Amino acid sequence: MRVFVADHPLIAHKLTVLRDTQTTQPTFRALTEELVTLLAYEATREVSVSPVTIQTPVTQATGVRLSHPRPLVVPILRAGLGMLEGMVTLLPTAEVGFLGMVRNEETLQPVTYAERLPDDLSDRTCFVLDPMLATGGSLAAAIQFLFDRGAQDVTAICILAAPEGLDALEKATAGRHVKLVLGAVDERLNEHGYIVPGLGDAGDRLYGTI
Ligand code: PRP
Ligand code: URA
Repeated sequence: MRVFVADHPLIAHKLTVLRDTQTTQPTFRALTEELVTLLAYEATREVSVSPVTIQTPVTQATGVRLSHPRPLVVPILRAGLGMLEGMVTLLPTAEVGFLGMVRNEETLQPVTYAERLPDDLSDRTCFVLDPMLATGGSLAAAIQFLFDRGAQDVTAICILAAPEGLDALEKATAGRHVKLVLGAVDERLNEHGYIVPGLGDAGDRLYGTI
């Protein structure tokens, strides 16, 4: 697994506002999208392109276009849905698949309640979106879904990660081609499996259930 942690003052600034308990729901949503667009720039660095020839108003020129089949973007519901617009801003032609997962807050194990993915992912570049990598259970299960459909190239974008989740994901994806792009790596998990200092419950803050 290759891990890229953002190192940019604009991302650090937006993350600080995102973490702040005073930040309102509309601002939290807008910042989530903006952060994902910035992280997507790094996440798509190796996206597959093919050479093309085009006509400019002045002359013929060579360039590149995104290759076929189109990339697949998979937000993990619910909180990952708040990242989708920020991602498709950069990849407007991507196909979108969905995985619904919720963590059992007693056992911290992920439960899958929805799945809408293409059957064959063998030639697809896949991007998984989930703001929080805490124990790593949800993201490991989501990436395994993609491997089971034949995916060989998976990039995940998370806004925050805990070291414990990174270790778990490293073990779960050993020997596979997985790239992880993160806004920041925080200190640790607390006794309830929340990221410290973190930002609280990302789904609740995005969708207003608090
Ligand atoms: C959150 C988050 C991740 C998961 C991370 O989702 O969006 O999917 O927890 O925890 P883990 O790394 O320990 O698995 P949650 O289960 O709260 O569901 P929600 O998105 O519907 O709020
Ligand atoms: N899920 C969240 O939304 N936040 C955390 O800190 C951990 C899991």
